[in-house]
Amino acid sequence: MIEAAGQARPIYRLAAIPGDGVGPEVLAAGRSVLQASAAAFGFELEWTELTVGGAGIDAHGLAIRPEDVQACAAADAVYLGAVGGPKWDDPTSPVRPEQALFALRGDLGLFANLRPVTIHPGLTAASPLRPELLHGVDLLIVRELTGGLYFGARTEASGPAGSRSASDTLPYSDAEISRVVRLAFELARGRRHKLTSVDKANVLATSRLWRRVAVEVGSDFPDVELNHQLVDSCAMQLVKGPAAFDVLVTENLFGDILSDEASVLAGSLGMLPSASLGSRRTAHGLHGLYEPIHGSAPDIAGRDLANPIGAILSGAMLLRWSLGQADAAAAIERAVAVALDDGFRSADLWPGDGLPTAGLNRVGTAGMTRAIVDRIAIRRAAPETVAARDR
Ligand code: IPM
Ligand code: MG
Repeated sequence: MIEAAGQARPIYRLAAIPGDGVGPEVLAAGRSVLQASAAAFGFELEWTELTVGGAGIDAHGLAIRPEDVQACAAADAVYLGAVGGPKWDDPTSPVRPEQALFALRGDLGLFANLRPVTIHPGLTAASPLRPELLHGVDLLIVRELTGGLYFGARTEASGPAGSRSASDTLPYSDAEISRVVRLAFELARGRRHKLTSVDKANVLATSRLWRRVAVEVGSDFPDVELNHQLVDSCAMQLVKGPAAFDVLVTENLFGDILSDEASVLAGSLGMLPSASLGSRRTAHGLHGLYEPIHGSAPDIAGRDLANPIGAILSGAMLLRWSLGQADAAAAIERAVAVALDDGFRSADLWPGDGLPTAGLNRVGTAGMTRAIVDRIAIRRAAPETVAARDR
């Protein structure tokens, strides 16, 4: 970015939550890529690091403290690695790392979770699906994030074995449905104008309400084709014909399940980013939380094995949605694509047995991050090189 001499560089304030397992490694990777893009595009990032998740339980006895939520609310955006791990897995414990996610999602009003699935052409060998099925796949799952079973009233099992029962409830109001469906329509309008609303309307009352509301909101979007699909059938279509989908919108638990399924299309769960957005605007964009969709992967933590791309692409989403830095976001996405074009592969992206590996370069978390950072620097240098040559 070319700036007039003396013009102040914008400064953005970000909250960083490294979390547990591979979270700290992938978040450090993402932060170094964001720093490189800040240097290239002329803005500054100020970080506040928070100890949250299992790490928060160890440090403070709580997955997240009210002051941590407040620090996240005060930041322009929140950047998160992953939380959770076997150390804190006791189902009877009153404190669990995942409580941090629910507190952030609920208290910050982050009702929409965007999970884009695109496929780099060089990675089709890493997916168990046939390459011809993957051709043209470019879909966006919009998952409702602050309602349904995750936030409904529940009763834990109690009493003697043999007479225990437990319950979870799945409530939705029309206001909760319409705000996320409206956002999905708006996103579809910026893409291929197709929206699939996923429900279980043949069984669930909330799904029947979801369908009615989707149709009502749809009357404001005559240019977007709305389809309804039952979640079981959608799960099948996602692997039988994924290229047919554009934007999908669905309730919390269906979206959780379908997005893990869809990640298989991209070759690895490690590739996929996410943005969790609400309706609150800051001076720069929508307030939001950004995290890779993979979990804390404790089995590979601390071994330089984790694929940082999901975290890095989440950083690109952060720039686009929360900071209004669309060019810097696109530069990161391009740098990731070029690093993959140039053959860099983390362990999860390495082709299966017997498939060709000529021209590929196996790297760890740090090596992949360096490859991507280097490719941002190249983009930055390019215009100067041209200018120097022309002079
Ligand atoms: C996700 C995760 C979380 C969820 C877990 C860790 C509670 O699976 O973000 O998809 O179910 O929402
Ligand atoms: Mg999940």
